[in-house]
Amino acid sequence: MEKITKISNSPEETFNIAFEIASKLNHPCLIGLTGEIGAGKTCFAKGFAEGLGVKELITSPTFLGVSESYSGKMPFIHIDFYKKVVPKNLLDKFLGDKAVVLIEWIENFEAIFNEKLNTDINVLIQYLKDKEGLIIDNMREIIVEM
Ligand SMILES: Nc1ncnc2c1ncn2[C@@H]1O[C@H](COP(=O)(O)OP(=O)(O)OP(=O)(O)O)[C@@H](O)[C@H]1O
Ligand SMILES: [Mg+2]
Repeated sequence: MEKITKISNSPEETFNIAFEIASKLNHPCLIGLTGEIGAGKTCFAKGFAEGLGVKELITSPTFLGVSESYSGKMPFIHIDFYKKVVPKNLLDKFLGDKAVVLIEWIENFEAIFNEKLNTDINVLIQYLKDKEGLIIDNMREIIVEM
């Protein structure tokens, strides 16, 4: 896997980084997003969806768990494992449907089922801190492995 590190200075930049990756995608794949609360995972998911040509509004699926969009160049399944983790068989159904599946809090799946998912793209979004250890407003480090 190739590892790319980018600095984002705004939600728009995070959106655009995701948009660019998705717009070059031409096959179904599994994307795992990791990062603390509020890091920007859903922001990244929105950019990713738009890069696939998805027309539906992408919102945080935290309480629904899964949202499906079919208006882009490939089906887009947006999953959030923060509160609820879907079982492997449902996940396998989505993966078998030739969809682009993006999962926020993917590490929760691995912690609960003690099984690693076979991701094609891993994204880690981290807050950046100044010399005093304080979080720098609007700044994030985005590490993409693909
Ligand atoms: N550089 C940045 N990239 C992304 N979001 C940013 C950035 N700077 C500030 N923000 C703000 O941080 C918040 C990120 O929210 P978002 O819902 O995308 O995070 P999340 O990682 O999905 O959180 P959760 O773990 O609750 O699902 C938004 O309010 C956004 O405006
Ligand atoms: Mg989120």
